[in-house]
Amino acid sequence: MSAILEGRTPTGGVVILRPPIDGEPLPDSSSEYDEWGEKLPLSQTAGHIERLVVECDGIAVGHVGWHRVHYGPNLGSCAWNIGIGLTESAQGRGIGSVAQGLLARYLLVTSPLDRVEASTDVTNIAEQRALEKAGFTREGVLRSAQQRVDGRHDLYSYSFVRGDELRSGL
Ligand SMILES: CC(C)(COP(=O)(O)OP(=O)(O)OC[C@H]1O[C@@H](n2cnc3c(N)ncnc32)[C@H](O)[C@@H]1OP(=O)(O)O)[C@@H](O)C(=O)NCCC(=O)NCCS
Repeated sequence: MSAILEGRTPTGGVVILRPPIDGEPLPDSSSEYDEWGEKLPLSQTAGHIERLVVECDGIAVGHVGWHRVHYGPNLGSCAWNIGIGLTESAQGRGIGSVAQGLLARYLLVTSPLDRVEASTDVTNIAEQRALEKAGFTREGVLRSAQQRVDGRHDLYSYSFVRGDELRSGL
């Protein structure tokens, strides 16, 4: 496993991101934030999502994913959009912030893209904190961006751009 995909929580838990082993089901991270109702086929949304399993101390506790988004027709205007889900018992232990920090740095090191972005519901305080602890910056509100079974929701958008990894303390 590449050292870039390994980190530690404040209490010493060893977090790694690794590819799923053939046919391995992703750990169940279902929550109120992914009750979508009927979903569009992937070909009509992100197209292709890469995924890695999140492990803590040798146990699979969740997954991260990313796909490319476009702000213009050239490579320099592409960004990675990331997402995460942890099992209930793994939440609140610092794993989410470590995993998203590792993923953001990995994507910047292994690709020419300069921007990693994430978004989360304005009520999802845990994910907002986890992203901020990972070094992401809140950019603003994406009004009425998401529809879930209980209605429409505003999201906060966050980014981690090339150079953020050099800021002291991260
Ligand atoms: C969101 C998620 C990835 C965050 O990962 P995590 O490992 O639980 O987060 P961390 O432990 O790194 O950090 C959570 C922070 O939020 C804080 N927090 C959690 N719930 C909170 C609440 N209701 N109010 C205020 N702060 C809260 C914690 O105290 C912690 O901050 P601290 O370290 O400063 O004390 C994880 O909880 C999860 O998978 N949740 C369910 C699915 C989900 O919401 N996915 C994201 C959809 S965008």
